Amino acid sequence: KRVILSGIQPTGVPHLGNYFGALSNWVKLQREASADDELLFTIVGWHALTLPQDPKVLATARTDMLAFLLAIGLSPQKSIIFHQDHNPCHTELAWILNCLTPFGKLKRMTTWKARLADSRNANDESEVDESLLNAGLFTYPILQAADILVYRATHVPVGDDQTQHLELSRDIAQIFNQTFKNRLFPLPQQLNTPTKRILSLKDPSSKMSKSAPDTQSRILLTDTPAQIRAKIRGAVTDSIQGITYDPVARPGTANLLAILAACTNEDVTAVAERYRDKRHGDLKAGVVDAVEGVVRGPREEFERIRKEEGYLALVATEGAEKARALAEVTMRDVRKLVGLA
Ligand code: TYM
Repeated sequence: KRVILSGIQPTGVPHLGNYFGALSNWVKLQREASADDELLFTIVGWHALTLPQDPKVLATARTDMLAFLLAIGLSPQKSIIFHQDHNPCHTELAWILNCLTPFGKLKRMTTWKARLADSRNANDESEVDESLLNAGLFTYPILQAADILVYRATHVPVGDDQTQHLELSRDIAQIFNQTFKNRLFPLPQQLNTPTKRILSLKDPSSKMSKSAPDTQSRILLTDTPAQIRAKIRGAVTDSIQGITYDPVARPGTANLLAILAACTNEDVTAVAERYRDKRHGDLKAGVVDAVEGVVRGPREEFERIRKEEGYLALVATEGAEKARALAEVTMRDVRKLVGLA
């Protein structure tokens, strides 16, 4: 029996990186699941709080994210779709795991190191402005491990940027099992898509992200055909003649080929072969059409579902009930093992 779990932060409209790195795989796993597979997909509101959020904006983004998950094809009949913050078992387990996780392991997390770098004094690199760092940013990966372990998940479909967090989740599972001499937690395995990392359209040395200041660097699932065209046309490529798939020497071009291959479900080298003697303009035109073909359905479905407030509330309530019931089974064992039963 597989228990498949993944999560997404409600910090804005999902972009093509979220979609091709993770969300499209959630739908595929749901489609191909066997009757005893358990699938859980969670909107992680507590993780979003590690950065400052406008409460009104967050509340809307949180419900919108539920609408997006339904719009891309997740079904509450087949998967448990829920808000993390509706299940206090996550934070209860997170606290227990906090007390088992070595400080040094957290200090090595690249996400934490990036936050630390952001808060360094511009004039004196050795000085960190600690008022910019909250404790939640530091313990963030432990809450993520709790999200996974509280359902005893075996498989976690995520993008490339979550690899280190998944390794930590396995480490923490092992520490718990060893400390309390049991096998409660399976070691969760990461599931990637062929395009596990979509790059920024403006800076192909970094990933496509929700927080990059340049809005032209990402394509959102709500973008209109005109916006998609403008963003793809403005994507950074190179001045080499012809089209080849070379992620090292031609990252921008390779990224467009990867997006196109993800849209059409083809091998990226086959797509590159088709465009071999063509120009960047031809490739971009192909990408625009393919992306619009993928985004249109979810975009229209999102606009329809987001208005069905009663239905969304019902899905959230039912999802939370199922999630709590499953997590409670694990927590009964956890409490007993640690001596808090
Ligand atoms: P988040 O909300 O940043 O991203 C959601 C998913 O999208 C993937 N992703 C990408 N994949 C490929 N290319 C990109 N440019 C790209 N950008 C984002 C992410 O890898 C992720 O799968 N910490 C997690 C949320 C989380 C979680 C969990 C995930 C909390 N608890 C438990 C799995 C299991 C995050 O911030 O994802």
